[in-house]
Amino acid sequence: MGSKEWRVVNPAGGKRVIVTKELPGERWLDILTQAGCKVDICTSTDVLDVEEIQAAIGTRCEGAIGQVTEAWGEQLFAALKAAGGKAYSNYAVGFDNVDINAASRHGIPVGNTPGVLTETTAEMAVTLTFAAARRVGEAERFLRAGRYDGWLPTLFLGELLWRKTLGIIGAGRIGSAYAQMMIEGHKMNLIYFDLYQNSTLENYISDYGKFLTSQGQDPVSCKRADRVEELLQEADCVSVHTVLDESTHHLINSERLALMKENAILVNTSRGPVIDESALVAHCQTHPHFRVGLDVFEDEPELKPGLVDLDNVVIVPHIASGTIWARQGMATLAACNVAGLLMGYPAWNQPDILSFLEGDAPKAAPSILNAKELGIPLYE
Ligand code: DGY
Repeated sequence: MGSKEWRVVNPAGGKRVIVTKELPGERWLDILTQAGCKVDICTSTDVLDVEEIQAAIGTRCEGAIGQVTEAWGEQLFAALKAAGGKAYSNYAVGFDNVDINAASRHGIPVGNTPGVLTETTAEMAVTLTFAAARRVGEAERFLRAGRYDGWLPTLFLGELLWRKTLGIIGAGRIGSAYAQMMIEGHKMNLIYFDLYQNSTLENYISDYGKFLTSQGQDPVSCKRADRVEELLQEADCVSVHTVLDESTHHLINSERLALMKENAILVNTSRGPVIDESALVAHCQTHPHFRVGLDVFEDEPELKPGLVDLDNVVIVPHIASGTIWARQGMATLAACNVAGLLMGYPAWNQPDILSFLEGDAPKAAPSILNAKELGIPLYE
């Protein structure tokens, strides 16, 4: 099992599942043990490397739940298959740490945990937006340092976002939830960039605009940008909600930063490498009124040189999905993915994934990314 500490739950279980970190809540463990699993949980907070995980898989392992910090690729899926593996779930909605093609080649279904962290993550994006716009980090450091000598008309003046223009890059579940929070709460106009048109979001904003008009207020507007450059030039605040792949790596680079307004806000709760972090540091050093809120970093957990010294950047350690409810829900979905696959259940294909969180879960694996490739039947 390698050098790290592990604990075993339900040692008499007939199917072995490894879980590479302690997960919050109890329901996820109940689901696995009720499915007849012996669960080996790594109790170390250290990030496990591929060799350590391979050692934990060993010669017999039917299923695994892994983390975004681990590289699940050819080596681990080959090892899992050889050990009798039939199921893997990421404990995350994002899966840029997983080589799905490698998993499919070895016949291993891969699950993820969408739907339960949407609002939680959007709320963190909102939090970072206003922390950056209103200079909360630097003001708090100032106060804690005992430097507050009394109210001043000029102390820590920030940016008002009310009725300004919001830009979102990626209008999927989380981007849309964030946009709605910002538009309904702060009456912002939206410009979005996405490969796909989001008619649901567009119609929602259009109807919300009509509601505002009916209340004697100015409406809000929504438009889809043809090019990301257009969005960057127009928006007062830009929030990134795209997946990380080759097409989005360093999507925000020095040329595109230069297009943004001098006093724009930039927020990233998606994946660090979507922003060229060194270029961002250089931009913030020369643009003191440009403000940034980051939950994710290019070389996590390392930060690019200079980032921590910047007063115009607010940083938190990849905690956007970190509410108790969301993290327990993610654990439940990951367990249902693995248990469901080991029980031979079909893949869930309904929008309501929250039905797995309470009561009797549907007899399905909630979110299997390569179900089609592997010919896993869909729930009917
Ligand atoms: C995810 O789910 O992809 C987050 O980054 C971790 O919660």
